[in-house]
Order: sequence, then structure tokens, then C-alpha cells
Amino acid sequence: MRFTIVYASATGHTEDIAERLNTLLPDSELKDLDRIDFTKELEEAEALICCTPTWNTGSDLKRSGTTWDEHIDNISQLALKDKPIAIVGLGDSAAFSKYFCDAMEELYRSFQSAGGRMIGHVSVDICLISLN
Ligand SMILES: Cc1cc2nc3c(=O)[nH]c(=O)nc-3n(C[C@H](O)[C@H](O)[C@H](O)COP(=O)(O)O)c2cc1C
Repeated sequence: MRFTIVYASATGHTEDIAERLNTLLPDSELKDLDRIDFTKELEEAEALICCTPTWNTGSDLKRSGTTWDEHIDNISQLALKDKPIAIVGLGDSAAFSKYFCDAMEELYRSFQSAGGRMIGHVSVDICLISLN
């Protein structure tokens, strides 16, 4: 499966993880959400890995704090039926335990409602990885 890894990042951590995924998946392509034709790139991808941080904006919606927020309402309209899609999230469980990685859920629901076949589920017991 050829993955297109799409990321948005405010301070570079998500970009770093997306680059590492790109290295681990030799056939994958790396795309900065700020620099792509959004509809074309996502609809034409064979499979997607969408990477997002969470930034506490005080809002219950649009929690990424990145360009994902500008697209979130449009994702469900995309033609993504049966496309394999994984969501990768970064956050800070110590400082923001109440809102840890909240933006993942927004992306997950949006891509799922576009018909995406959501993949890559992991137990919360193993999803806490330190960048240090
Ligand atoms: C002001 C501020 C607000 C944040 N809010 C959240 C949050 O609500 N939930 C969370 O899990 N992480 C939160 N974080 C942690 C970031 O998501 C984390 O640092 C992430 O790695 C940033 O990714 P980026 O560098 O790609 O933007 C916050 C960090 C800062 C500095």
C-alpha cells in the first residue's frame, strides 16, 4: 500500500514525526498540508496517514491549531470511499490530560464520514510515546 502522509504542524513536532514515518515507509510520500491542493491530493492518494497536533484553543471544535482546522468542515464531502486512512496525533498528556490529542477524534470522525476505511487502531495503553 502506497501511503501519502499529510501533516500540519505549528511548532515542528508533528512534521518531525511525519518525516520519520516517511523514512519508515519507503514507498510513502510526504505532504505539508499548507502546500497541497487539498481535495486533489487527498482524493487521489491510494492510502492516507493524516498527522495532527492538538492545541488547546478553548474551543470544543477545530482543536488542531493548524491548517486542519480550515479544512475540517470540508473533509466529509471528499470522495474517500473505502480509502485506507490512519490518523496520527501528537499532544502533551501531562499538561493537557483533559484534552489529550483531542484533534485526532475530529479528524477521525470527519474522514470516517467521508467513507474512509479507518485503519491503524492501537490500544491507549501503548499509544503514549515520549519524543525525548
Ligand atoms: C499552548 C499550548 C496548548 C496545547 N494544547 C494541547 C492540548 O489541548 N492537548 C494536547 O494533547 N496537547 C496540547 N499541547 C501540546 C502540543 O500538542 C504538542 O506540543 C505537540 O507536539 C505540538 O505539535 P506541533 O509542534 O506539530 O505543533 C499544547 C501545547 C501548547 C504549547
